[in-house]
Amino acid sequence: SIASERYRTAYHFQPLKNWMNDPSGPVYYNGIYHEFYQHNPGGTIGTDIVWGHSVSTDLVNWLRLEPAMVRDTPNDIKGCWTGSTTIINGDQPVIIYTGGDSQGRQVQNIALPKNRSDPYLREWIKGGNNPVLLPDGPGMNLIQFRDPTTGWIGPDGLWRIAVGAELYGYGAALLYKSEDFLSWTRVDHPLYTSNASAMWECPDFFPVLPGNNGGLDLSAAIPKGAKHVLKMSLDSSDKYMIGVYDLKRDAFVPDIVLDDRRLWLRIDYGSFYASKSFFDSKKGRRIIWGWSNETDSPADDVVKGWAGIHAIPRTIWLDSDGKQLLQWPIDEIESLRRNEINHQELELKKGDLFEIKGIDTLQADVEVDFELTSIDSADPFDPSWLLDVEKHCRESGASVQGGIGPFGLVVLASDNMEEHTVVHFRVYKSHQSYMVLMCSDLRRSSLRSELYTPAYGGFFEVDLERESKISLRTLIDRSAVESFGGGGRVCITSRVYPVALADNDTIHMYAFNNGSTTVRVPQLRAWSMMTAQVNVIQG
Ligand code: FRU
Repeated sequence: SIASERYRTAYHFQPLKNWMNDPSGPVYYNGIYHEFYQHNPGGTIGTDIVWGHSVSTDLVNWLRLEPAMVRDTPNDIKGCWTGSTTIINGDQPVIIYTGGDSQGRQVQNIALPKNRSDPYLREWIKGGNNPVLLPDGPGMNLIQFRDPTTGWIGPDGLWRIAVGAELYGYGAALLYKSEDFLSWTRVDHPLYTSNASAMWECPDFFPVLPGNNGGLDLSAAIPKGAKHVLKMSLDSSDKYMIGVYDLKRDAFVPDIVLDDRRLWLRIDYGSFYASKSFFDSKKGRRIIWGWSNETDSPADDVVKGWAGIHAIPRTIWLDSDGKQLLQWPIDEIESLRRNEINHQELELKKGDLFEIKGIDTLQADVEVDFELTSIDSADPFDPSWLLDVEKHCRESGASVQGGIGPFGLVVLASDNMEEHTVVHFRVYKSHQSYMVLMCSDLRRSSLRSELYTPAYGGFFEVDLERESKISLRTLIDRSAVESFGGGGRVCITSRVYPVALADNDTIHMYAFNNGSTTVRVPQLRAWSMMTAQVNVIQG
């Protein structure tokens, strides 16, 4: 129907139709970006998975190709599941991916491009010695063994990969070694394991330099001062730890070990899962892609004819204090900006609602700085909130007045505000510093029922004595609202389905403040976003 077409995103990555989940094996090779994805070409549910394949020169516009791999061997007949691409020997791309085999086990397989001189690497040939890894060895679970990482070379010149697994019932990234990338042996200890959780899906492992947003190649020598990040997907969220890769022990050693996994850091606090990063050698950065599942019902997906998008690819790097990752939408996405509007020196007093007009409110990019006029009335921070930030966002919604905040943006709002999505901040005083709460509250995003409408939330620390501004960037793309708080310290991807959007009503956008402290807005810029060419043309 026409109504449901209006929820389709205009500049996010999604297939032309049907189901998509994880990004798989993203890679830059010979001038082309490849995005593979978990895809059911036959329906809107996550079964019968093949590797969808699209290519791009700018990470914004995508050409749709035939699937790179389908379920056609005993080693992947139940599904060609998530994996990674590694470039070995300088210019040989290799995919390693999980197959659901004919015996119901999870195994790892290899595939190579048929013809490396095809710029799009359209055809992939599965390896003759597949599977290259079986779920055997002590402590293994036959059906919890998947999602191999990109490979890296150790000081001994051997390749390594990590595979997500459950080891003796606990979440683990298992470590394997190989001379030729074809025959692998399991190292006697995992890269890392934690008894704070069960199965880890989609592990990702990569080096970062504090304060340096240039990316590092996983296989290059580790520069002095570098840290490593281990990301794992569990509890419907992507969590990560920062630590060091101890080359002597060949193991990841986190800086901080938290026994309660609710406290683990998160890549994104919204609908975002199974992310995977890659080193972009063209621009010397690390880019991360993640899957954002629909939060409407499976029946809605059938009507829409599609389900699942990928979040805007983000540059990812380590904050200068080494304590958390920062993320920012890739610069290329700014090429879609049109009709800039620019407001300066706004003042938002308690109760103010400022309408942002003159842009397409369904497809927009908004960047706003909020400057606090005083930090005296910050309410005290309670560390127990960290255990359930969503609960705290529900209890302290956009209409609940605080000392500092809530202030932020109201987006995708219907004429009478019956429907609206709020992205807002609150500032709390903790012992030595200030804690900023960022919420993306979907509870009133739609009048429709059978939607999942949580109030997502995350906290970040700021030094308000040094920096009195809190920035917010929100990308609005019809059913996607993707927000970056504090320069990318907290990211929240949300999916919303307002009736007003389907009915083609006027949609509004506002900046607001409901806190007792006045907030200055030194600058607010917003743009309409053009529609990108995403998988509409077959390459
Ligand atoms: C994560 C995941 C992976 C698996 C894939 C199957 O969303 O469950 O662990 O390989 O999806 O599509």
